Amino acid sequence: MSILIWAVLGYLLGSVPFGLVITRALGFGDLRQIGSGNIGATNVLRTGNKPAALATLLLDAGKGAIAVLLARHFAGESAALVAGAAAFLGHCFPVWLGFNGGKGMATFLGTLIALDWRVGLMCCATWALVALIARISSLSALISAAMAPVYAWALGKPQLMAAALFMTVLIFIRHKANIARLLDGTEPRIGAKK
Ligand code: G3P
Repeated sequence: MSILIWAVLGYLLGSVPFGLVITRALGFGDLRQIGSGNIGATNVLRTGNKPAALATLLLDAGKGAIAVLLARHFAGESAALVAGAAAFLGHCFPVWLGFNGGKGMATFLGTLIALDWRVGLMCCATWALVALIARISSLSALISAAMAPVYAWALGKPQLMAAALFMTVLIFIRHKANIARLLDGTEPRIGAKK
């Protein structure tokens, strides 16, 4: 019963679309009409407002981390795993936006950092390394997400590996359009307007 409550709380926390709220408050209108149409930090950056993109990144990551930390504090590690995965689902499929939300990467990273900081930091480092080389956010996200279950496995964390694998599959599904653009060479570089 308690786990179910943490799933609901995690989902609700994750479903707050910070990118949409921030860009609307700054007068950019509906973020879903800009760039890729995604509600994440990469697309907020396409408005040209770097602090807004950074705030979106931190808040989207932070909501995943807070869901995990609260659940762990009050109900233990299994509840933390469920709350983190639920926050991720809330970000990707928020009830407020007709279940059509973001692509999940920032919330995934925040959730992972709180679940196991070593796995989270290795994924952040992977994201940064690929971004440094290729300068394409979606490619960084896909490679970093693909590595998450591998890192969890290497550290002997089977439950985390299963949760990471579940989220990684959804990240790939949410990046369907990006994958198509990557394959035909039209995916824009970080910061480029689209
Ligand atoms: O984390 C989102 C990123 O991987 C892709 O965003 O706006 O380029 O589709 P976007």
